[in-house]
Amino acid sequence: MPLALGTTAGCSLRGTVRVPGDKSISHRALLFGAIAEGTTRIEGLLPAEDPLSTAACLRAMGVAVSAIEADQPVLVKGVGLDGLQEPNTVLDCGNSGTTMRLMLGLLAGRQGRHFVLTGDDSLRRRPMRRVGDPLAEMGATIAGRSGGNLAPLAIQGRQLRGTTVRTPVASAQVKSALILAALTAEGPTSVIEPVQSRDHTERMLRAFGADLSVGSAGDTEVTITPGATLRGQDVVVPGDISSAAFWLVAGAITPGAELTVENVGLNPSRTGILDVLEQMGARIEVLNRRDVAGEPVGDLRVSHGPLQAFTIGAELIPRLVDEIPVLAVAACCAEGTSRVSGAEELRVKETDRLAVMARQLGAMGARIEEFADGMAIQGGVQLQGAEVDSETDHRVAMSLAVAAQVASGATTLHRSEAAAVSYPRFWDDLQRLQA
Ligand code: S3P
Repeated sequence: MPLALGTTAGCSLRGTVRVPGDKSISHRALLFGAIAEGTTRIEGLLPAEDPLSTAACLRAMGVAVSAIEADQPVLVKGVGLDGLQEPNTVLDCGNSGTTMRLMLGLLAGRQGRHFVLTGDDSLRRRPMRRVGDPLAEMGATIAGRSGGNLAPLAIQGRQLRGTTVRTPVASAQVKSALILAALTAEGPTSVIEPVQSRDHTERMLRAFGADLSVGSAGDTEVTITPGATLRGQDVVVPGDISSAAFWLVAGAITPGAELTVENVGLNPSRTGILDVLEQMGARIEVLNRRDVAGEPVGDLRVSHGPLQAFTIGAELIPRLVDEIPVLAVAACCAEGTSRVSGAEELRVKETDRLAVMARQLGAMGARIEEFADGMAIQGGVQLQGAEVDSETDHRVAMSLAVAAQVASGATTLHRSEAAAVSYPRFWDDLQRLQA
């Protein structure tokens, strides 16, 4: 659907917005609820396409998941650690890498059952051996195109054995898949990452009763000892900082803007965007810090002001991996040249986000030099309204909307509907906040 943006010349952004529930936490609440004993009640679950894919897969394996609707609690009736039934059809993970990768880990150990996972055009191009290879070290059997790297993937469930696995990339999807597989393996499993990725799985599984410890410098080693029973829990999902990111950047770059984003998850493994915006000199305040069901939460107030260029290196990437597209927009409006390196992971997200952002923002007049593992973005550039395309990527769609906010002239965004993967009400919120 082409959408006209930035037609209200000189309009600013004002008001309060509550972003939808955290996508990562929403997937996990559904999955862990499914394999627990008893009922899990989830408040604030993200009612968007990606979690709906996870719920549909679980239902196909005999798990009762109530309807997922905005502002309604979701109930999951757990079937226990080994209660998932063999589905009589293909499990469709849609656009969701988290669904597919976590399912691989969850299903590889379901003895005697066979599963086939597929997804949309984008997901069928994304690398899955990063999960399949370490799972194979635990005894898993997963087959697919390109040597088991590309979906559709077939899993023949087997009894797995615990081991020590070093993951080649800092990926919470890979780590979480291995943790899920470890829950029913023979003997303990340790997962060692190069840099710590988001730790929602560790926090939530422990709350469900799993025997899980985190150690080593930088919390990069997780050890799971099987045998514990998981018990259904009440989960409260905080707002997604990756969705808040669009408002934080929009507020920081739009003249006259003043926004409050409420109820944002502030887990330290996700707050890299706040560190970078601070580095840029953005006017951001954290208010009302609190703890909600094991996750830190706060409200964020942002207003427009002058910005300096940023430098982001490999160490920081896992803490803001999904926020680079919108930070590229912020960089266009800063003084100096911003640099991102060590970000080759962006090439295997829903799209190749380095190439897509360079191409689409480039069409708006941005000066971006693309490298194999990052980009250099020249600041102080007046963006121009243009015909742009999300290329089906939700975060690209919303990042381009933020760019359109400060562009001179109107922008037409093609395939804007991609935003529904993680933030179905984004366009309504944008319209409401435009003052
Ligand atoms: C996610 C982890 C990240 C992130 C994705 C969600 C998760 O991927 O990009 O949007 O829920 O575990 P990687 O862990 O593969 O980097």
